[in-house]
Amino acid sequence: MFKNVIVRTPAKSIVNGITSAPELGKPDYNKALIQHESYIQALKNCGCQVEVLPSLENFPDSCFVEDVAVLTERVAIITRPGAETRLHEVDHIKDTLRKYYEEDCIEEIESPGTLEGGDVMMVGNHFYVGQSDRTNEEGCKQFIDRLKKYGHEGTVVKLEEFLHLKTGVNYLENNNLLVSGEFIDNPLFKEFNQHIIPDDEMYAANCIWVNNTVIVPKGYPKVLSLVKSLGYKTIEVDTSEFRKLDGGLSCLSLRFEAQK
Ligand code: GLY
Repeated sequence: MFKNVIVRTPAKSIVNGITSAPELGKPDYNKALIQHESYIQALKNCGCQVEVLPSLENFPDSCFVEDVAVLTERVAIITRPGAETRLHEVDHIKDTLRKYYEEDCIEEIESPGTLEGGDVMMVGNHFYVGQSDRTNEEGCKQFIDRLKKYGHEGTVVKLEEFLHLKTGVNYLENNNLLVSGEFIDNPLFKEFNQHIIPDDEMYAANCIWVNNTVIVPKGYPKVLSLVKSLGYKTIEVDTSEFRKLDGGLSCLSLRFEAQK
């Protein structure tokens, strides 16, 4: 279960965020703020305490706060984003994490390693880490070494097309996995109950499980009915403005149970 959530308010500079889909247009800042508020409300409705960090104008992508840390029940691992414009976002999360974790349970990924939290999928004690354009081989190695120190395990998943691992595959607990695109038929996931996301709703592979509710992006009826058919309570949240920057529901928060 997740008791705690950290989010970061979108900055006005979000219009300059990184995107692989410029054809979708620039995000509308005011609309992004409204969608972010709805997201926070959905997380509160799932029973989480939500800490809202202030916006960082120098970092257009900083509302995608998931990328700067990986938080488990035993350790906080501060990442080292592979996107150059995002590298120093991590400097703005360290003090916040000290409120939730003991100092000797805070680790960091070091140069030349890179890692973004969007590339990490937690399945209980086991963490799948995507080796992607943002997370390099060294970052995966350091990450798994740090996990092992705390009794966790890790598996590397090599990515070919998606931005992040969780762009295309997400765990909904109860052995249920949403899979799309390049992850369909990946032998690493063969033990799961795999639920295939249709190509025309691929963006909605990025749903998040939060305390037995699944938050689903608004506007993807096939995925919504699939998730409902698995027996989950659902909440829909509109993320259209974040999608314009390749951002999804998971990228917008750190979900965890604080150590202190
Ligand atoms: N725009 C989100 C990212 O590329 O990190």
